[in-house]
Amino acid sequence: MTRPRKLAAGNWKMNGTAKAALAEVAALSAAHPDPKVDLLICPPATLIAQMNWAKKTHPLALGGQDCHAKTHGAHTGDIAAAMLADAGATYVILGHSERRADHHETDADVRAKAIAAEAAGLISVICIGETLTEREAGTTLTVVGTQLDRSVPDIATPENCVIAYEPVWAIGTGKVPTTAQIAEVHGFIRERLTARFGAAAEGFRILYGGSVKGTNAAEIFAVDDVDGALVGGASLTTADFSPIITALENA
Ligand code: PGA
Repeated sequence: MTRPRKLAAGNWKMNGTAKAALAEVAALSAAHPDPKVDLLICPPATLIAQMNWAKKTHPLALGGQDCHAKTHGAHTGDIAAAMLADAGATYVILGHSERRADHHETDADVRAKAIAAEAAGLISVICIGETLTEREAGTTLTVVGTQLDRSVPDIATPENCVIAYEPVWAIGTGKVPTTAQIAEVHGFIRERLTARFGAAAEGFRILYGGSVKGTNAAEIFAVDDVDGALVGGASLTTADFSPIITALENA
């Protein structure tokens, strides 16, 4: 099985209001009118519908940054997967380390959300990654393997699920693992997916995330089993995100 198109994904986190977001849609679509990779922006949920309208026919995909595992009900402040889809999202980030830390989300929560996302027709971007303490203790592969096994549901396919390896210590810090460290973890994730899903595992996109910038993107994208990136800070402006997209197109 050949792998699907590579994916350049931006996670805007809690940044962005309408005026700037609409300007970004215009700038990004003008800079990449016919992208050779899949492009995704996950803005705050308040912006999805407006950005979806503004992108017109451009293939830019939009995604949520979380969803609830239930379809509806008394869950103040939460958003159901179908509501994201209704606003124009086709993806949703799940289990980001900031949600695991800030909202105590467990692997079981992430798995339930991924099942809900699939039911709503969304593609999950399931985030896993070790802390610095875990890396220094030599437990990276155990931690990542456990998160992968428990967060990814049995119904996962390359079409409804993307894996993002994001070492917690590399997020927003400017610290990036060596290419050998990235290769080790991505190769491990691919093997583990193969053990579980067989030949279909080749089709899963495995993104790297954590301080990806225009200056280090080409080096990261040259690593085996890196099928794209989940980018935080450097996805906020086209000036910063565009060189990363171009590096992925050329990888
Ligand atoms: P960063 O964030 O690119 O700002 O390190 C990545 C992420 O949290 O997805």
